[in-house]
Amino acid sequence: MKLLLIFFTLSSIKDISAQIQHVDLSLSGCSSGSAKEYVAELDGEEILHTDFKRQILVNKLPDFAEPFERTCAYKHSVLEQKICKLNLDLAVKVYKNPSEALDIPQNSIYSKSNVELEAQNTLVCHSGSFFPPPVRITWTRNGVNVTDESTLSQFYPNKDNTYNQFSHLHFTPKEGDVYTCTVEHKALETPDTKTWEVDVELPSVGPAVFCGVGLAVGLLGVVTGTFFLIKGNRCN
Ligand SMILES: *[C@@H]1O[C@H](CO)[C@@H](O)[C@H](O)[C@H]1NC(C)=O
Repeated sequence: MKLLLIFFTLSSIKDISAQIQHVDLSLSGCSSGSAKEYVAELDGEEILHTDFKRQILVNKLPDFAEPFERTCAYKHSVLEQKICKLNLDLAVKVYKNPSEALDIPQNSIYSKSNVELEAQNTLVCHSGSFFPPPVRITWTRNGVNVTDESTLSQFYPNKDNTYNQFSHLHFTPKEGDVYTCTVEHKALETPDTKTWEVDVELPSVGPAVFCGVGLAVGLLGVVTGTFFLIKGNRCN
């Protein structure tokens, strides 16, 4: 069995001079497999990450934010990978090949915005609370593999040492379309598939009927009660 351990370098700065507390976090992760990550976050929101395949730094700040450059950040993240690998090899030796912790991913699928037919939207497949990272996420539309149209986020740390990861799929809701996202992870015996259907709510008659019947039964009670009250009084 291939041992896959992850070694992380975490650094956080807490600014407690003001009443607001901010957490700046940079994470460098590697494994004895091919998983690599470098991500920087502020207060749990991603600022940037390294795309090791394309060999670039990817800025994730929203458009309204002023762009900022981290000098040599890409080179820095590559160097961090080397350090991470060295530390990992050392840790595996020192701790005598420890067994790997496994946490099962908790998965869900949902749309980003309210669903309206023919209105562009995004489906999100969220995988949370797993260890070790990463997960693999694949998509289908009406049974056809559409994974190539999706994107997979970096993995983000939780406080309890587990991880979260998101996959996004842009789509246009069409009546009756069925989507699935499937999460694969080494802690799962079989892949976990979540299903999502385009189901636009029509104005429902249920509540109105329920209310009407309730009101009728209530009124009937009042009438019957009054009848017996009057009848009772007469007998006296
Ligand atoms: C779907 O496509 C992805 C990416 O092209 C591929 O890795 C995956 O194995 C495919 N899944 C199936 C069930 O064909």
